[in-house]
Amino acid sequence: MSKKYIIANWKMLPASWAEAEQILDFVNDHLESRNEKEFSLVFCPPFIFLDEVSNVLKTSHFEHGSSLGAQDVFWEDTGADTGEVSGPMLNKLGVQYVIVGHSERRWKLGESDEIVNKKLKAVLRNEMTPIVCLGEKIRDDNFREFLREQAKKTFSGLNHDEIGKCMIAYEPVWAISTNPDARPDTPESAMESIKIIQNFLIENWELKTEDLPKILYGGSVTSKNIVDFIEKKEIEGVLVGGASVNKEEFVKMLSLVK
Ligand code: PGA
Repeated sequence: MSKKYIIANWKMLPASWAEAEQILDFVNDHLESRNEKEFSLVFCPPFIFLDEVSNVLKTSHFEHGSSLGAQDVFWEDTGADTGEVSGPMLNKLGVQYVIVGHSERRWKLGESDEIVNKKLKAVLRNEMTPIVCLGEKIRDDNFREFLREQAKKTFSGLNHDEIGKCMIAYEPVWAISTNPDARPDTPESAMESIKIIQNFLIENWELKTEDLPKILYGGSVTSKNIVDFIEKKEIEGVLVGGASVNKEEFVKMLSLVK
């Protein structure tokens, strides 16, 4: 079985580098205690910590199987774009993965499918892997159509090979831990959505099953349910938000991935 991906999306946390270092030290101690690492770890810290995290990941028990990710990128590679960070800048820092279209950006900041599409192309152009977040806001009668439409606009203009280079994180917005009344999806119902997205890609890009993007699940993943998701062969990893900055909980999750 291929290694599962555990993507730690730290969001706008922790508040200081000292706390970030404590999380990394704690995880490193855990890695030291294991013979085999049956997962690929990707840390996606806030931009300001990327350089420091990159240095830490090059050392000690992080050396094998850990990578650096960013939480966002701007769609232009250069220019007068106040406050933005470009693909070439991230690439130079050693970033290998970039989250695009996270629901917090789509729904809180008004990022449209068209913007996500431009960012996704910027990530590919700069030879990094986009982790493309897709997911419905509410699970109503229309959610299947919503997912197809979101996938259509998000991946618009990409060719067959480019689609295969993406990773998709299926993250139903209602399941993200910071939402009021959040509850994790079940692996079975997440699989239904994942199949909808995969079939849409197969039909529209004539992809073979083996060329499909890797699929992750995200939304209230904790030590209580991580195994239920990753034991599904179609789910190739998890995108973990809140629990990834709680060092005890995060290490507990890692210890369950055998
Ligand atoms: P959560 O966040 O694990 O806190 O639900 C997941 C995400 O937003 O990527």
